[in-house]
Amino acid sequence: MERSLRSSKWFGRTGKDGFIYRAWTKKQGIPDHELEGKPIIGICNTWSELTPCNSHFRELAESVKRGVLEAGGYPMEFPVMSLGETLMKPTAMLYRNLVSMDVEESIRANPLDGVVLLCGCDKTTPALVMGACSVDLPTIVVSGGPMLTGRYKGRQISTSDIWRFSEDYNAGRMSQEEMRVAEAGMCRSDGHCAVMGTASTMACMVEALGLSLPGNAAIPAPDSARRILAHRSGSEIVRMVGEDRRLSEILTRKSFENAIRVNAAVGGSTNFVIHLLAIAGRVGIPLTLEDFDTFSAGVPLLVNLQPSGLHFMEDLYYAGGLEAVMEALGDRLHRDCVTVNGHTIGENCAQAPCYSPDVISTLDKPFNDQSGIVVLKGNLCENGAVIKPSAATPALMRHTGRAVVFESIEEYKVRIDDPTLEVDETSILVLKNVGPRGYPGMPEVGNMGLPPKLLAKGVKDMVRISDGRMSGTGFGTVILHASPEAALGGNFALVKSGDRIELDVARRLLVLHVPGEELERRRKAWEPASPIAERGYVQLYVRHVEQADAGADLDFLKGGSGSEVTRDSH
Ligand code: FES
Repeated sequence: MERSLRSSKWFGRTGKDGFIYRAWTKKQGIPDHELEGKPIIGICNTWSELTPCNSHFRELAESVKRGVLEAGGYPMEFPVMSLGETLMKPTAMLYRNLVSMDVEESIRANPLDGVVLLCGCDKTTPALVMGACSVDLPTIVVSGGPMLTGRYKGRQISTSDIWRFSEDYNAGRMSQEEMRVAEAGMCRSDGHCAVMGTASTMACMVEALGLSLPGNAAIPAPDSARRILAHRSGSEIVRMVGEDRRLSEILTRKSFENAIRVNAAVGGSTNFVIHLLAIAGRVGIPLTLEDFDTFSAGVPLLVNLQPSGLHFMEDLYYAGGLEAVMEALGDRLHRDCVTVNGHTIGENCAQAPCYSPDVISTLDKPFNDQSGIVVLKGNLCENGAVIKPSAATPALMRHTGRAVVFESIEEYKVRIDDPTLEVDETSILVLKNVGPRGYPGMPEVGNMGLPPKLLAKGVKDMVRISDGRMSGTGFGTVILHASPEAALGGNFALVKSGDRIELDVARRLLVLHVPGEELERRRKAWEPASPIAERGYVQLYVRHVEQADAGADLDFLKGGSGSEVTRDSH
């Protein structure tokens, strides 16, 4: 290898400094020849027993290591904070930016020439990619893969069914005992949620961006092909270091446009919007909320997966995986975008076969014309809000109704079960103060459950609006990410129960029908809530978090600082 390695600034040194760097590394039994002249590959591991979706990552890391060694590099695994979606309170999203800082500083501070990011549960992917982008070394993503499809009373289930079970339970159609049977059959194997939730969406995103080897998105976690992909990724990162192929070469404006189009075709999560905006902010690619609408347009839903369709990630894999979806998209994608293996997207998916037209359809005969992310504007969300039409009810896409407002998630929980709550199926549920700053952390509560008295009548969906997020596994006519959020005092803060709200998805409109003078009167009377965080990371987050339409990153983390370490204390 001609070019001098970054790690040689540590291990290639003479005198006291080189002595220290090598001596303490050697205590792990690593001989000289492994440290000098070989690319040192960091394996950034989010393994944790508190992140069940990533609990198989120790074994996955071993496969990566074998690939690194085979290609002549030396692997060094390191931990970063892990984010498990199911256990963390108040919400894993509060910590996405913190993990990105951990990742960025861990990579830059250490003698690494290239990095493999082991990502799985929802936030671990954007957090790791964001952090790595701010350093910009050669980097490759290996996703953990989806779980096998669950089973309940003989039928296939996965995470999207939790919402249905919950409604059945609340409506008295399902007992607690049946809930326990269902939960025992839900998570059958290693891996992340088995539908096109946020984790699967993120795995598709990295493959569409060109940050992983082809096939990364859909191979189930327990399939031996997943470990082979990890092994091959370990070898590939060594070649990337040799060719100095960095993230900034792969992440171009065109690769972001590809990711948006692929997300529309697969019916990806609304969380995709926030995470892609944040990643773009780290690499300095100008990307706006409107771009998601613009580049989704004309891309129908090709993939028939829950929550927008019927099937599961395992079925997508057997049908041909994301390569088959990207091949089906033809010239809707920029096929000349370079990926981690040095080949273009077009080359990687050329002639990729589709084995099941019921799972992956075609542009001529799509599974659903409704796809992608629609960006709504209007006086209720001056900076925008989003809706995922493929997961919504067509009859509600144009709807005017009376607002039933909850000022907080706690108030919603207290009032929603009240049989005297003034609400019917034409009402619009509005949930405030669940935005990035107001909650803080922007939890996934936007697809709030319907009032039990309406569920009992058989109501399946209502228009719901919030400044929060929704689980990628969720569905319904749910408007999310209203910006500016209520905590900032925009019009969304001023809506009251009884106001009329108009939604018109075709015209991209979300309008609060309240006279301007009345809004001004309410604005004068509005008072911001007292700050929730007095100290620590949460205080830092609240002070610096940006709005959802900008990616909800911390303002001082935008951009990058490169891989140079400018001070040397030894
Ligand atoms: Fe981890 Fe769904 S809970 S991906």
